[in-house]
Amino acid sequence: YQSLSCRFWGRSGFYQSGGAFGFRDQLQDVMALVYVDRALAREHILRSASRQYVEGDVQHWWHVETGMGVRTMCSDDLLWLPYATAHYVAVTGDAAILQERVAFISGPPLPDGHLEAMQEPQPTTDDATLLAHCLLAIGHAGRTGPHGLPLMGNGDWNDGMNLVGAGGKGESVWLAWFLIATLRIFAETLESAGRRTEAVELRGRAAALLATVERECWDGEWYLRAFFDDGSPLGSHRNTEARIDSIAQSWAVIAGGDRARGRLAVDAALRELVNPEHSMVHLFWPPFDVAEPHPGYIRGYPPGLRENGGQYTHGCLWLALACAEMGDGDQAARLLQIMNPIEANREPEHVKRYGAEPYVAPADIYAAAGQEGRAGWTWYTGSAGWMYRIWLESVLGLQLRGDTLSFHPVLPRDWPGYSLSYTHGGAHFQIDVRRAGTGETKGAFEGGSAVLDGRVHLSRPDGHYNVTVLV
Ligand code: GLC
Repeated sequence: YQSLSCRFWGRSGFYQSGGAFGFRDQLQDVMALVYVDRALAREHILRSASRQYVEGDVQHWWHVETGMGVRTMCSDDLLWLPYATAHYVAVTGDAAILQERVAFISGPPLPDGHLEAMQEPQPTTDDATLLAHCLLAIGHAGRTGPHGLPLMGNGDWNDGMNLVGAGGKGESVWLAWFLIATLRIFAETLESAGRRTEAVELRGRAAALLATVERECWDGEWYLRAFFDDGSPLGSHRNTEARIDSIAQSWAVIAGGDRARGRLAVDAALRELVNPEHSMVHLFWPPFDVAEPHPGYIRGYPPGLRENGGQYTHGCLWLALACAEMGDGDQAARLLQIMNPIEANREPEHVKRYGAEPYVAPADIYAAAGQEGRAGWTWYTGSAGWMYRIWLESVLGLQLRGDTLSFHPVLPRDWPGYSLSYTHGGAHFQIDVRRAGTGETKGAFEGGSAVLDGRVHLSRPDGHYNVTVLV
């Protein structure tokens, strides 16, 4: 409800009367909305492709009414197009979307020395398939710096780190992980579309980049977050500020980096960034304050506020995703519960501390001295969509693929199982997932007999169906 009403339809909140689509923002939201409205997801993916410049970069945000928006040197935006497309195709089975033709936009290049410019670009007469738009984005994001990592530009997912690589040399370790993840997931999309050769090529690029990250970015106990323009590291034990950044650890696991290191890195993040006393999880720690080089406008937030070391929920949730990916259901659920405002507000004094609506996901929670645990911005945040997906896909393990469902849960040890109801047209499924007892066979069962491929087939006559899944 939060994602659909506020993020997607309203694009506005009490805290920011926006109205624009953020290129990376609503693409992430529709990855969650694909379960409730796949047509909306489809339409938005194509709409986003139409905001790609002929050169491959995209508008950081734009207003649909006029197309007015901002052209930037932001480095990750464009990759969310192939990333979200791959998820959409995998979940819906709608590979036809890849062949939809969409125009580009054209506008003046950024003037020398400018990192961003507002413009109202015009659609081109030439169009290309969504597949070609995605491949162009992937190619464009592959420009690397001195360590062989993707350039940070004037910010990656963390918008406020806009000076780390503004000089054109700074590199983002998180972006390297995100690019690896995108190359791998999009290779699957290409394969399902029969494009073997390109799939192999993307996998090769992913493997090469992975080797580079492992060689250049391991800090001993966790992964670095970035390299500044001057070549000095960010997110290292050698830094006095932002020594460890959550998203460089979580995405190491999500992207499929070295397993042993991934475990160490996530353990370090759990140790250094989870703050149960104030029921919050820091994005990184300690916050930026005075250290040089200057990371960007993020330092304009007082230490512990918003992205500057607070719980920036959207990014912090990825740590729960990483735990689930490692099969650690205890930690995944623990983190999700810490970040669940209902769980965090069971006591009256916590409600006073929190100070915002506990029934929507917060964008941020303060860690600033004296204000720990206080909610900042709520409602208009992409954390709602990720919170939903991580519970549903990663912990409960629901895997929708075309018109079949299967379950690969990563449950906390003290959960016996769960039940779930799922509606597909006029077919209503009551699904009980539980741990197989000794001597019990794992698999899906209907009417007492095992379902051969272990999958729940959704296209069937209207009615009620009971399914038991033993895991
Ligand atoms: C805001 C932006 C989002 C960005 C995040 C982290 O939520 O809308 O695009 O990734 O902040 O800086």
